[in-house]
Amino acid sequence: MQNNSQSRATLGGKLSAVLVAAGSSVGLGNIWRFPYVAGDNGGGAFLIIYILCVILLGLPLMLSEFSIGRATRLNAVGAFRSLNRRWSFLGYNGILAAFLILGFYFVVAGWTAEYLVHSITGDLAQLSSPEEYKSVFDNFITNPWRPILYTALFVLATHIIIALGVQKGIERSAKLLMPLLFLILIILSIHSLLMSGGTEGLKFFFTPDFSKVTPSTVLVALGQAFFSLSIGLGTMVTYASYFKPDTNLYNTALNVTILDTSVAILAGVMIFPAVFSVGIEPSSGPSLVFITLPSIFNGLPLSMVWSTIFFLLLVIAALTSTISLHEVITAYLHEEWHVSRKTAAWLTTLSTMVLASFASLSLGVWNEMKICGLSLFDALDYLTANIMLPVGGMFTCFFAGWKLDQQVLKAQITNNGAIKFRIYKLFRVLLRYFCPIVLLLVFLDNLGLF
Ligand code: PHE
Repeated sequence: MQNNSQSRATLGGKLSAVLVAAGSSVGLGNIWRFPYVAGDNGGGAFLIIYILCVILLGLPLMLSEFSIGRATRLNAVGAFRSLNRRWSFLGYNGILAAFLILGFYFVVAGWTAEYLVHSITGDLAQLSSPEEYKSVFDNFITNPWRPILYTALFVLATHIIIALGVQKGIERSAKLLMPLLFLILIILSIHSLLMSGGTEGLKFFFTPDFSKVTPSTVLVALGQAFFSLSIGLGTMVTYASYFKPDTNLYNTALNVTILDTSVAILAGVMIFPAVFSVGIEPSSGPSLVFITLPSIFNGLPLSMVWSTIFFLLLVIAALTSTISLHEVITAYLHEEWHVSRKTAAWLTTLSTMVLASFASLSLGVWNEMKICGLSLFDALDYLTANIMLPVGGMFTCFFAGWKLDQQVLKAQITNNGAIKFRIYKLFRVLLRYFCPIVLLLVFLDNLGLF
């Protein structure tokens, strides 16, 4: 097995592995995507299916990705290739998925940056009705150049951090910002709960109505779980390649999963009561957060301050995620194409910027152009979250359960026998049988084969 540990950076403190991995996981997927996807798929029943996906599929998969990354200390393609040549396609699937995700993620990240700027200038606080917020949002995203400008700013910020090297900046900011993000979310959730009409929103979010569940609900929940946890595309393989030998991989995966899921649930608690009390459709799609949140802030004293803090945190949550996606591609280009890290970073930055500009334009001036009935923006989202990540996840489970030398897996999870992993048997059954079979059934079902 190839090992390039000398040249490779490792993360510093004890908390770093959790924080950096949580930085990747917690992002727009939790606060922007989760509420609208849950709203679109019936609420309560979706939440239950989502949580089951996280525990039964997400956690074992994250642990497998961590093990593969730390065992090989390589980028996603190199890692799979060095373990088994035939499986390097999984790495390529991941690199491509990271590129396509960045294509729409950078666009939404740009929106959050624009909202931050308008919160600081006070423009956002001047509007009052949800209709006004909606029309401001629609005008903004369909504008040909403004969103691209903010996207470019975001891409540049990501580039600078990647170029500086990942460790100190991200580690330190994550330590400060993740707790702050939690605090703000809790305060806003409480406020949202106290709004008149709020209980209806909570009912929608917490009362399962299984009559609304279709095969596609399960696929969407699965895709959302993988997207939110950043798994199925080698991000966690890449990050774990920087972990220290004594990092406890299971505890790290467990903590990241818990943090990520609590942020998603808190986002739901914050948004659904507001959705119902200001009278917006829970199924109104990607604009949901950008309309409901400013409406909540509006009812608060010092609304400018709240909205500034919130969008700042959202920008940061998005940034720690774009960095991880960028890193997947940069590490691959650097190590496999043998170009300098700087060149690798520039190649990634420029190519994703072009894709993101197209995705942004596909919501406005190019909205006539459709791919299978979807705009480029929606197609990128759908293809990655609902197809590439679940497929990547299915093969990763299969690989870790059947093809990977079990001694390698065990050595990683127990740190060469230094720590106990009591549920290894259960973990193995999940990896070998449960996860691949469930994933396969969900796919076949969605293709209409039953
Ligand atoms: N998990 C991130 C989020 O929820 C997005 C992401 C997906 C990051 C895949 C890395 C890899 O926002």
